[in-house]
Parts: sequence; C-alpha cells; structure tokens
Amino acid sequence: MTIQIAPSILSADFVNLERELKAISTADLVHVDVMDHHFVPNLTLGEPIVKRICEVSPIPVDAHLMIEDPDRWAPEFAKAGADSVTFHMGAAHAPVRLARQLHDMGTRACFAVRPAEPVEPIFDILDEFYMILIMTVEPGFGGQKFLDNQMNKVRRLRDEITRRGLKTKIQVDGGVSPSTAAIVAAAGADVLVAGSAVYGADDPAQAIASIRQEAEKAFRA
Ligand code: DX5
Ligand code: ZN
Repeated sequence: MTIQIAPSILSADFVNLERELKAISTADLVHVDVMDHHFVPNLTLGEPIVKRICEVSPIPVDAHLMIEDPDRWAPEFAKAGADSVTFHMGAAHAPVRLARQLHDMGTRACFAVRPAEPVEPIFDILDEFYMILIMTVEPGFGGQKFLDNQMNKVRRLRDEITRRGLKTKIQVDGGVSPSTAAIVAAAGADVLVAGSAVYGADDPAQAIASIRQEAEKAFRA
C-alpha cells in the first residue's frame, strides 16, 4: 500500500496560488479546505476558486468541505473538477445518497469525522466511500497541535478495513509533520494532509519528502 501526501493550501500564499501549487507538484494531491463560517468558525474559499485551482493544479484536487448542508453544495465541487470531495458526518443529512450522487458524477466521495465523533457509525456504510478522514485537530484552522488521542480511532478503522478486505483509504488531517507522520502511519493512515509543515518549511518539496519517508517506514497495513 502506498502512502499519499496531500499538502493543504490553507497555509499557502493565497495571492500566489498558482506558484504555491507548483511548489508541491511532488505531492500526490492538493488538499483544499472549504470553510463556511458556520460549520466551523473560519471562512476560506468557495466553488469559483476551487474550479480555477482544478484548472491549474499539476496534481489532483482533494476538496475538504467544512460546510453546512453538503447535500446541497458538495455536487458543485464535483462539477468544479475536484478529484475527491470530503463532507462531514456532522453536516450531511443523507450521506449515502450524497456519496452515490458524487460517485455518479465521477468524483470520489469521502466522509469525515471530528475528534469527538466515533468512527463506528460509518462501518455499515463504509463501502460507499473512497476514503474516510479522521480529523487530528478540531477543524477550522491550520497550525494546531496534533491530537494523538485519535490514533485508536484510526487503528479501529484500519482493523475493520483489513478484516473486510476493503480498499478504503484513511486520511488524517491536522498537526501532521515529519515528527508525527510515523505515528499516524503506524496506526494505519495512508493519506496524510499537512498544511503548516509543508508551506511553513523553507523547502516544501523537502518537507513532503520527509513526511513521506517517515510514514513509509512506519506504515502498517
Ligand atoms: C483544519 C484543516 C486542515 C489544515 C491542517 O481544519 O482541515 O486541512 O490545513 O493544517 P496543519 O497541517 O497546519 O495542521
Ligand atoms: Zn482539511
């Protein structure tokens, strides 16, 4: 199984997005955080900007929707060209219907849980999703401290995926850096989002390489 690194442009220079996207072309995905100032306290960017990012990005776009009413809005991000669209358990009204709608549009549907939400309720609908996102900070801001108390959740999810022989990916988001990459990979996460650790580094490509190296050494399937 391969580790994928997804730098989050939340920590990038928003005035120079095209340049910032080129700087992470050695990564596997670009993670775009959409926040609506309701589901989370912060406000970032919407569909027109995601559409332009999809047009110029050298790597696939992974849209992380921290918004209310994804049932209404998530398909707009699929239309905008996102390769994967993640919506939150705490926001979706009909997650299975929405996942199927996104997949029918040719986009990978993914489901996210916040730190206080359990992962077990997803088990019965696991095969509806390409990837499950376990938040390792409270969603809303970059640069927060990694919550290692989420690792049991990652392990339980990895055990379930292995037991059923599924291909579901496990993404972690928040506080991931070269020093926490081994912890999340050892727990079973295979898609690592990193914002400040990549864009805050002098050399983003080097930061991507060291996160990848640490995770690959530690990953447990
Ligand atoms: C937080 C966002 C993250 C954020 C991670 O709500 O979902 O994607 O950019 O930032 P770091 O890696 O700095 O914790
Ligand atoms: Zn995110």
